[in-house]
Amino acid sequence: MSGRIVTLTPNPVMDIRTRVSQVVSDRKLRCSEPVRQPGGGGLNVARTINWLGGRACALFPAGGGTGEDLRHCLDTEGVAYEAIPIAGETRENMIVLEEKSGHEYRFAMPGPVLSQEECGALLDRLRSLDPPVDFLVASGSLPPGAPEDFFAEVVRVGNQLGARVIVDTHERPLSHVAVPDSGVFLLKPNRGELERLTDRTLSSEEEEEAAARELIADQQARAVVLSRGAKGAMLLTADQTIRYRSPPVGVITRVGAGDNLIAGLVHKLSQGASLAEAVHFGVAVGAAAVASIGTGIGGWVDLEEFLQQTEVA
Ligand SMILES: Nc1ncnc2c1ncn2[C@@H]1O[C@H](COP(=O)(O)OP(=O)(O)OP(=O)(O)O)[C@@H](O)[C@H]1O
Ligand SMILES: [Mg+2]
Repeated sequence: MSGRIVTLTPNPVMDIRTRVSQVVSDRKLRCSEPVRQPGGGGLNVARTINWLGGRACALFPAGGGTGEDLRHCLDTEGVAYEAIPIAGETRENMIVLEEKSGHEYRFAMPGPVLSQEECGALLDRLRSLDPPVDFLVASGSLPPGAPEDFFAEVVRVGNQLGARVIVDTHERPLSHVAVPDSGVFLLKPNRGELERLTDRTLSSEEEEEAAARELIADQQARAVVLSRGAKGAMLLTADQTIRYRSPPVGVITRVGAGDNLIAGLVHKLSQGASLAEAVHFGVAVGAAAVASIGTGIGGWVDLEEFLQQTEVA
């Protein structure tokens, strides 16, 4: 039997993807037929776990027509979820591929204001989950209105539920979570997030490793997975450092790369794999997602091949 996974996404989104030949100012830009996909940290994680044949329940606030649309898409994909109704309208982000350059432009909206009551309702729903919850993935940005220490409270609740809590967020919400004796099982910063967290510029792999190791030394997390884009990832725990080299891939979209890494990682952990094996699989899933159309993984992908091409050192 595999462990139970819950993801929490305070600021979910409907991603709208389209293409345009060139982005220029002051002119009407004719776009291709848009494709709509649920997104935002934990929703991406739950969708990819579902694609991998696992099961995760996505918990998130949803409001307005876009909130309805989000539920409908998840129903169609067969992703388990619980949506907490809110007064505001769930946001939509625009992801525009400029065909001429191959560049991807990502326009991210702030999201609807979450009132104090709505934040409370989301946390209360989390508190009232029936145990066991083996893994809790708290991921994405915070919407306006949510207190900066929202994820720190999520970590406390996760620990009360007996879950191993994985956090992937940025800016100030991350610094509220990454504190000594945080109770976090795993943090997954990218380099920029680690730089801001440790307040320094990291210009080599050695410097990255040293900075990530400080988080472990302070018990800001039991494990850190530093994701390094095309270069792969680094896993640090109290007694090991493991480097993973991502396979070279033709990049189709980078949206959700980090979420897909986490999806692969948690899916493997829930099946009883070691952390080292789980990160290996996560890096392969991240690379496969980058090489697939849309935020998740495309149906044709041979994950085994990506896994074999991911080097471990
Ligand atoms: N260009 C790439 N080629 C191969 N693999 C990639 C590439 N970019 C990302 N990946 C894979 O995805 C993982 C996560 O990527 P990255 O470090 O960019 O996450 P991130 O910065 O958190 O992304 P985001 O927050 O935008 O989803 C990497 O560890 C790697 O496995
Ligand atoms: Mg990220």
